[in-house]
Order: sequence, then C-alpha cells, then structure tokens
Amino acid sequence: MKLAILGCSQLVTLSGPNRPRTGVEMRDLAIVQNGAMLIEEGRIQHIGTRSEIEALIEKDCDVVDAGNRVVMPGFVDAHTHPVFAGNRANEFEQRTSGASYPEIAAAGGGIRSTVRQTRAATEDALLDSTAKYVQWFLRNGTTAIEAKSGYGLTPDQEYKMLRVIGRIQPLRCVPTFLGAHEIPDEFRGRAHEYADVVINEMLPEVAAKKLAVYCDIFCEPGIFNLDESRRILSAARALGLGLRMHADQLSKSGAAELAAELGAATADHLEHTDASGIAALHAAGVQPVLLPGSVYALGSTRYPNARAMIQAGLAVVLATDFNPGSSPTPSVPMILSLACTQMKMTPAEAITASTINAAWSVGRGHDIGSLEPGKLADFVIHDCADYREIAYFFGVEPAHAVYIEGRRVL
Ligand code: NIG
Ligand code: FE
Repeated sequence: MKLAILGCSQLVTLSGPNRPRTGVEMRDLAIVQNGAMLIEEGRIQHIGTRSEIEALIEKDCDVVDAGNRVVMPGFVDAHTHPVFAGNRANEFEQRTSGASYPEIAAAGGGIRSTVRQTRAATEDALLDSTAKYVQWFLRNGTTAIEAKSGYGLTPDQEYKMLRVIGRIQPLRCVPTFLGAHEIPDEFRGRAHEYADVVINEMLPEVAAKKLAVYCDIFCEPGIFNLDESRRILSAARALGLGLRMHADQLSKSGAAELAAELGAATADHLEHTDASGIAALHAAGVQPVLLPGSVYALGSTRYPNARAMIQAGLAVVLATDFNPGSSPTPSVPMILSLACTQMKMTPAEAITASTINAAWSVGRGHDIGSLEPGKLADFVIHDCADYREIAYFFGVEPAHAVYIEGRRVL
C-alpha cells in the first residue's frame, strides 16, 4: 500500500543527525518548501519537492493533497498522566480562592484524591475515560505519548493502571511505572516502608512482566526525599528500567544532581534548578523535560530557565504533563505558546523540543520524531501555511488530519 502526500506549503522534516538536537541545531527544522512525501507500508520512502515525488507515483498509489498546509511529524508528548478516574475541578476552584497545591495535598487532596477515585474504578471504566483523552491528544496533533501510572499506589492497582496504558490505541504509547508518585493514605508517615513495597514487590513484577519501559518518581521534600529516591531508582535501574524523575518542581532539593548521578534519561519540571543543576545534567547527558503547562495552571510565574539550558547545550524537551491536578491540558500547541511567550524559546526550538528531542527522550528517536526515509509515517497536516502559526495562535486545535503509520486516525 503506497500513499503520496502532496501540496505541503512547508514539509517540516526535522531531518538531521541521528541524535537529540542541541544549541543552534534546535532552530533548524529542515523544511522542504512545496514539499511532498511517499509512504509505503507505514514507513516513509521518499521526501522531496512536489515534482520529485509526483515523478515516483505509480498506479496503485493513494494521493492526498495537503492543500498548501504545513505537514510535520506528530508531536511526541514525553510526560503525561492520562489514566485517572474523576477530575479535580473542585480543587481548581479552591485554588482560585487562595489555597495552594501543596496545602490541598497536605489536607488529603491532590494526588491522593485522584488515587482514591482511581482505585474505585474498574480497568474497563479507566480505559473508557482514557479513550476520551486519547481523542484530545490526537486533535492537538500528538501521535505518541509517554504515559505514567501512579494513581494506584498498591501493587494490584499499579498493575491495573499499567494494563490500561498497554491497551491505549491508536496513539503510540511508552509506559512508565510511577508507583512512587505519593505516599498513599495507608502509609502516611512511613515513606520508607512504602518504598520497600515499591522495591520488593512492584518493581520486580513490573520488570518481569515488561509492564513499563521507564520508572519515574516524585522526588520532593515531604514526598520522596533524595535518599528514598536514590534507593527506588537504583533498584529500577538494576532491573533494566530506564529512569525519569519529577525533579525540582516545588523546591530545589538536589533532584537534578541525583538524575545526573543515576544516569537518568530525563529530569522533568526543573522550575527550581540552578546553574549547577544544569551543569550536572549536561555532564551526564540527561534530557530536561520542561512542563510549562503545570506552572501556568498552578498560577505560578516561575517557569524553568529554558534559555540557560539551551545555552548550556542540553537537548531540551517540552511536554504537557497532562494530569487532573497541576496540568489539565493535552495540548502541545498550548505548550508551544507558553514556551515562546513565557520562556522565550523560538517557535522552531519549541517544535524541535516536542518532536525529535522528545522522541529521543522516550527511546524512540530511531523511528519517530522526524520525517525521514525509513522512519514511521506518523505525521500531521496542520491548518496553516507557516509552522510558526502553531505556536502563535493559541486556544485553537491546529491539526487538520492526523496519520499514524500511514493510516489516517483523525
Ligand atoms: O507532574 N508532581 C507530581 N505529579 C504531577 C501532578 C499530578 C497530580 O497533581 O495529580 C505533576 O505535576
Ligand atoms: Fe508529572
């Protein structure tokens, strides 16, 4: 089965070196003006100008005219919590009246409130609610997500969440085990004992059954401190899982340095990370995953220092952090707007951060994140003629058509 895509005002390929992009490379989107591509069996065969691709079209080939629109790789959302029951609109309202996210959490709300609701839901009910969010991701031009557990916090409840993540479709999905997201109600004041359950029961089962590719943790004073985080993540690494961390989100605790020490794939959030943390991430090749949606939705103005990170040579990633508490948005275009207006990234840097760099950060840089011969045909036709419009207009859903492995899914 062959498919030709013609009539791209800009074919934003992001082709380039076979690794994450850093420094000035992040501004180079390798655009083919009036571009076109040929796809066979779900993979990209040729990229070129319209006339070059037209010359290759045979009788049995489907042809789609993009109508002078931008065509680019689907967004890879490298940090999401898409499986949960209920929502926290009540806490959202409380925050408008002055209650803070940590205060609400300390009073038993926050993550633990979503845990109570998620535990009470069946696997099928969770898959149903997640299916609605999957449509939201697709409508915003996302074709792959990293998806975390972390609202179960018992062995069986965490496995239930990971099974739901395993059933997500048609989005491509990279599963992450986040059993250390919070101290559950029944272990309050006994973080060490809960960490023992994560290490001795959950991690061996997650690894043996291959329920996740990565292990994540909420490393924050009062949740999992540096010592507990090191213990849990070292155990995960010994079982062959890659590492990610919620690091320096609400305070500077040395979490970025711990991510570097452990050779984590990513350190995420980093709102409070300073120059020494950035230097440590650079020396260890850890990718920063920046989540401006959570800063915005919590009413803060303390965005992570993206400019310093790009300057230092870090392969910056942007993601939504979609979750029912700190960041209830599935929209990468909204994140691009925040990255440009609040963090002074250029539109090109923001697109690199949410496609090819994001793909490398979830271990999939070899087959998604850019449009190059041999890669999977995961791409989006956006309803604009210039890629900068995707970050410039906000509050709209720019995706006109979404393809995964050459098949139209939206
Ligand atoms: O990335 N900080 C911890 N985890 C999420 C929030 C999850 C929630 O509030 O339900 C985050 O911000
Ligand atoms: Fe998160």
